[in-house]
This record gives sequence, C-alpha cells and structure tokens, in this order.
Amino acid sequence: MNESLLVRASRGQRTERPPVWFMRQAGRSLPEYRKVREGVPMLESCQRPDMVVEITMQPVRRYGVDAAILFSDIVVPLKAAGIDVEIQPGVGPVVASPVRGAADLERLRPLEPGDVGFITEAIHGLVAELGSTPLIGFAGAPFTLASYLVEGGPSRHHERTKALMHSEPAVWHELLSRVAAITASFLQVQIDAGASVIQLFDSWAGALSESEYRRYVMPHSASVLAGIASVPRIHFGVGTSEFLPLMAEAGADVVGVDWRLPLDEAARRVPGKALQGNLDPAILFADRAVVDVEVDRIVAEGRAAPGHIFNLGHGVLPSTDPDVLARVVERVHAAGGTEG
Ligand code: CP3
Repeated sequence: MNESLLVRASRGQRTERPPVWFMRQAGRSLPEYRKVREGVPMLESCQRPDMVVEITMQPVRRYGVDAAILFSDIVVPLKAAGIDVEIQPGVGPVVASPVRGAADLERLRPLEPGDVGFITEAIHGLVAELGSTPLIGFAGAPFTLASYLVEGGPSRHHERTKALMHSEPAVWHELLSRVAAITASFLQVQIDAGASVIQLFDSWAGALSESEYRRYVMPHSASVLAGIASVPRIHFGVGTSEFLPLMAEAGADVVGVDWRLPLDEAARRVPGKALQGNLDPAILFADRAVVDVEVDRIVAEGRAAPGHIFNLGHGVLPSTDPDVLARVVERVHAAGGTEG
C-alpha cells in the first residue's frame, strides 16, 4: 500500500513506527519563520499563498516530520466570513465587537469557498511541493471559536461564554450552529484542495464539565466531523481526559491526548480509536536524557492503541530549541518493531 504512515496510523493500523509531527511546528520557534514574517501581520501572512507554502514547508525541511500542517490560524475562516478579528502579537485573537446576544448572530454569515480562495491556492502549491508527505488541514472547533467570539479575546475562565451557554441556551445553540457551518465549509475547502487528514482543535474544551460538553458542545462538533468523513479526522482538546470518550463519540478517527493522561490509559478510555500525542511541550526544556526517556515511554505506551501518531500534548512553545525537536523526530524515527 502506498498510503502514508499518517493515514495508516489514523485508520487504526499498526505501523512499523509511529508517524511524528508537532502541533504548532510552523511558527515562532523557528528563526526562518521569524525572518519571513518580519513586518507582515499574522492574518495577512495567512492570506498570502506564497507565504503559507513557505512557512508550512519550513518544519518539513528542517525536521523531516511525517506530516505538514497548513500554516493558518483558527480565526482565519471567521475573518474570511466578515468578522472583524485580528491576531495581536503576544496576546492572540482579538474580536472588535464580541457576540453577546441574539442580535449579534446576524453577523455570522456562512463561509463561501470563494471567501478562502487563498487557501485553495496555497494547498495546491503545497501538495505539489510535498510529494509523498501528507498535509493536515485544520480548523478550530465550535466551542473554542465561540469562546473568542463571546469573550472578545483569549480568556482564562470563559465566564461570559459559560454565562451565555447556561442563561440563553437557544442563542448559544444558534451561535454554535453558525460557527459549525463556517468550520465545516472551511474544512471542506481544505479537503477538496488536497488535505489528506484534518484536525479539529478544541483547545479550550477542558474548561467544561463533562455534562456541559455533552449538552452544549458535542452536538456541534459532531455535526462538523460528520460532514467531513471522507478523510481521517483527528479530534484534539486540552484538559479533556475526563471526557475523551465523548470526544471520540463526536466522530473522531484519532483522539488527541494532552500530556496529563498516559496513552495506555487513554487507549482504555477510547477502545478501538487511534491516538495522537502526548509529550509535554515543557519537557523539551529539560535535559536531553530526560527527553529521550519520555519519548521512549510515549512510543511504548502508544502501542496500546490500534494506531499512534507521535505528537506533543499541546503546541510547541515559542522559545523551544529547534534542535531538541529535531532530536525527538530522529528518536521516533529510530523506534521500530510495532508492525503486526
Ligand atoms: O501548527 C502549526 O504549525 C500551524 C499553524 C497554527 C497557528 N495557529 C499559527 C499561529 C495552528 C494549527 C494554529 C491553531 C490555533 N490558533 C489554535 C489551536 C491550537 C492550540 O494551540 O491550541 C488556537 C487556540 C489559536 C489562536 C491563537 N493564534 C493563539 C492563542 C495565538 C498565539 C498568540 C501569541 O502571539 O502568543 C495565535 C497566533 C498564532 N497562530 C501564531 C502562529 C504562528 C503566532 C503569531 C506570530 O507568529 O506572530
């Protein structure tokens, strides 16, 4: 079979070694990234196909990872659908007029493929350049995007978001349906252009209880994932160990696991699912011998799942030494013997 390691592992097939890539592998930890981005605002760089191709390729060239992830951001489809959002350096996404009630929902119109022609163009360029290395497309999940829309920016406690969810459930569900529709069409554009796998990032879902997740969030993530079943789907959250089964049930082929839960325990919680993870990004700052031991442990624990994609438990921290990541890739590539 000619399918990539990434696709085989995503489908729950044991591979001779785990494929490896890193969330946020393209970005500020790379000097070549900082150089290309000089003087260009974040969202502008995401809309320029030449820059998207170059930045997406940088970690593939440097590390020899087994997958590329499209250089973009979770707020790109919101911006393309007409929301006034910017990414402020060192802060994150900031929304000029937050969504606080029913009257604000009208501003969330559907995303037409023509709104993101730059994505199609970038992916066509990437597929040509990547050869046999697969491209991962991605989007933010409805809850994580809704949190930025409601709070107006990054939030520690998501208090306005939870207030809306509980006090005005009808408005909440309409908001999440609209965001889910934008997310689904953004992912479809990436699949149509040539993405081999997609990842849905629900980075802030760990702020929720299991019952909140089940009632207010899961149906909307499920509707996104159901619409894109033509490629393997990775569903990732941070701090979501207590409701991993729900994240799997929402329609994941691969469940992303953060560093809090060992992969063999995750495999017991979501039997039959492939797993992705889960090296603590902060461990990359420890001594080299420590990193080696952790990589070996995660490769071994990953064998408890039908398929394992080696990754961090969350994104690369900006001050990470790229040489340490290169060494992790080398070590995972040297791990073998799981064929079976
Ligand atoms: O993984 C990759 O290498 C692909 C690129 C990527 C970016 N953002 C580029 C980016 C991906 C997959 C994302 C997803 C994203 N964006 C998420 C989900 C993943 C996660 O980390 O949980 C979230 C929550 C966001 C929102 C966002 N955008 C944040 C919190 C920030 C950081 C703010 C800051 O400056 O500290 C951004 C900005 C951002 N997105 C940068 C990059 C490379 C940094 C901007 C810069 O380099 O100027």
